[in-house]
Amino acid sequence: MPPLSAKYSQFVMPDHINVVGTLFGGQMIAWIDLAAAKVSHRFFKGADVDGAVTRAIEQVEFKEPVFLGDWVNFTASIIKSSRTSISIEVEAKAEGRKGKPRLACVARVVMVAVKKDNKGLYQKTPHGKTL
Ligand SMILES: CC(C)(COP(=O)(O)OP(=O)(O)OC[C@H]1O[C@@H](n2cnc3c(N)ncnc32)[C@H](O)[C@@H]1OP(=O)(O)O)[C@@H](O)C(=O)NCCC(=O)NCCS
Repeated sequence: MPPLSAKYSQFVMPDHINVVGTLFGGQMIAWIDLAAAKVSHRFFKGADVDGAVTRAIEQVEFKEPVFLGDWVNFTASIIKSSRTSISIEVEAKAEGRKGKPRLACVARVVMVAVKKDNKGLYQKTPHGKTL
């Protein structure tokens, strides 16, 4: 059975901070996209595909601020597999020096399997993988 989840972590550095002193939301979305890419990379191992691209980020909810020096621990889980696409739920938990991990952000990402055609262009392709 293919792996259905992946973990990914990032450390919040000064370059990641916005003008109100918390993690910049666009940076969080980029990390969410990478976490989704990691689980799709695992899921598509053995499939006749050349990779997967992000088709949609259907929802993103920023629930708690994240601060300089926090670790952000992502869990990306595949929740649906369709003909060319997969749906992935990503949870981001912030881990500070004190206190319990906080659920900082949740998102739903759709990635589409692609294959290179004879002109060198990447086109959607059925991936043949089921949950
Ligand atoms: C991804 C891409 C190859 C898909 O080609 P397309 O002809 O647009 O494909 P479709 O509209 O038929 O959609 C393909 C799949 O995505 C799903 N999809 C399309 N739009 C969607 C949306 N807004 N939300 C959720 N799923 C969506 C479709 O249901 C279909 O899934 P299925 O085959 O599993 O049923 C093309 O849209 C593309 O190249 N987009 C740009 C990708 C990109 O640059 N991403 C950022 C960098 S990774």
